[in-house]
Amino acid sequence: MSNTPVITIDGPSATGKGTIASLVAKELGYRLLDSGALYRVLALAACEEGIDLEDGAAIAGMAPGLKIEFPGNGRVSLGGRDVSSEIRTGTMDESASRVAALPEVRQVLLPVQHGFRSPPGLVAEGRDMGAVVFPGAKYKFFLTASPEIRASRRYRQLLDRGLGARLPDLLRDLRARDRRDEQRSISPLRPADRAIEIDTSQLTIVQVVDQIMQKRRQGGG
Ligand code: DC
Repeated sequence: MSNTPVITIDGPSATGKGTIASLVAKELGYRLLDSGALYRVLALAACEEGIDLEDGAAIAGMAPGLKIEFPGNGRVSLGGRDVSSEIRTGTMDESASRVAALPEVRQVLLPVQHGFRSPPGLVAEGRDMGAVVFPGAKYKFFLTASPEIRASRRYRQLLDRGLGARLPDLLRDLRARDRRDEQRSISPLRPADRAIEIDTSQLTIVQVVDQIMQKRRQGGG
């Protein structure tokens, strides 16, 4: 519904966006859209089908037939199979970033993303939620943090999941991914018009959530 409120939260990876968006959604009782997961699932499905990751038409053509669901608690399923861990490996970081640069894929995912907007409201998290997918959103946020802080957050996340990683490699990969996300010709990563920027480098997750909730209250809900 076009008058259903939308809060967009964009920014590069490891700014805490995902956790922050899900806490804001929970606090408001809103639905949550993790748009990055859509690109990740498409990348996984393309790899499994043996489709070339440069073949935008083939990947976009596959999208309508995929049954992607978010059953809650950050889980993601593809055709009823839980792919939450599979879509978050280093390989899928890289593959999703390539798939996300394909105009046909971004186009086919537009109506899918619009479909998440339903009462009482939506928190949409990603890179172009405020600029492209929900440009009319009343509240738009753009989170940032230094690359070093983001790499060390990602490092801890991987260790927590029992996965090995090297901090210098993570920093290098993260910079490369930022460059690709910022320089692609379609929907490059940058703050939307009217977006409120929050540098999360020195803030806790709770402090960022509080800032978002406060801005929303100041703006009249
Ligand atoms: O947020 P994430 O790391 O799960 O996103 C995976 C990839 O998809 C990442 O390279 C950025 C891209 N992405 C995008 O281009 N647009 C979005 N709205 C969300 C993610």
